[in-house]
Amino acid sequence: MTIPSPPLPTGAPIPQLGFGTYKVVDGVYEAVRSALDLGYRHIDTAQMYGNEAEVGRAIADSGIAREDLFLTSKLNNGNHEPGPARASFDQTLDDLRTDYVDLFLVHWPLPMHYDGDVARPWPVLEEFHDQGRARAIGLSNYEPHHVRAVLDIARVAPHVLQSEAHPFFSNSSVRAFAAAHSMVFEAWSPLARGRAASDPVLAGIGRAHGASGTQVALRWALDRGDVVFPKSVSPERQEANLDVFSFALTAEETALINALDEGEAGRTGSHPNVLDRL
Ligand SMILES: NC(=O)c1ccc[n+]([C@@H]2O[C@H](COP(=O)([O-])OP(=O)(O)OC[C@H]3O[C@@H](n4cnc5c(N)ncnc54)[C@H](OP(=O)(O)O)[C@@H]3O)[C@@H](O)[C@H]2O)c1
Repeated sequence: MTIPSPPLPTGAPIPQLGFGTYKVVDGVYEAVRSALDLGYRHIDTAQMYGNEAEVGRAIADSGIAREDLFLTSKLNNGNHEPGPARASFDQTLDDLRTDYVDLFLVHWPLPMHYDGDVARPWPVLEEFHDQGRARAIGLSNYEPHHVRAVLDIARVAPHVLQSEAHPFFSNSSVRAFAAAHSMVFEAWSPLARGRAASDPVLAGIGRAHGASGTQVALRWALDRGDVVFPKSVSPERQEANLDVFSFALTAEETALINALDEGEAGRTGSHPNVLDRL
């Protein structure tokens, strides 16, 4: 099985299907070890997840060469000022046992904090990029008006925009904005935090291909060009989530999935304008 790896604006390839680690604290070592054994080579973590040290230990024990992995982490909400941003990034690299991450993102824009300056951490991310310690840099949960504030002061334009997207919340306007500004779009919670597993339309489409609803949701996202990293603590489900290239969706099936979009009602997380957690 070959996972497509489109280029970032830096030219570096990013595996389009990776492994997410949100809310995995107990058992993250085992989950990441098994994901790597199964063939995942792209791991998405964050300072906020509190699991970088265990992710780093699992990677070290896997024996996989660093250059064969794509590692992403994210700046935590309390670390937007330069001092905490630099100190926490040093800790991230120590915990992940590496000299660089392939991608470092600002996790949330927090427009109600930092004097409303959602671009506050960006010059420090540019510094990490200049140093070669963050090979690519980007934004997570930034709405178009937040990204514009960053573009207004950027020397290095963001390479990636990560935001929630799945069949029930297609997030079309943010995806279109990312495309218009040459940012690779990463869709978080591509299974809508598990809802895709019980949806009758996705299950029905899957039956025609000997696949599950979750596999259909992932294939749909990959066909749209999104980068995804589903999370599962189960090796069986991790394996199923990788096995999404042996069938193809028809145009009619894709249209049925597109019709599942509920707009804002389908969002599972907080709206970036209001998420306030430091
Ligand atoms: N930037 C951000 O703010 C942000 C926010 C949220 C997520 N993320 C990233 O995106 C990643 C993915 O999102 P997510 O973890 O929120 O949700 P998700 O990947 O959409 O869904 C995970 C849920 O689906 C279940 N699941 C996974 N594979 C399955 C399968 N084949 N069949 C049935 N159920 C399955 C998992 O349960 P089991 O573990 O029990 O299998 C878990 O409950 C995160 O881990 C994180 O890396 C980023």
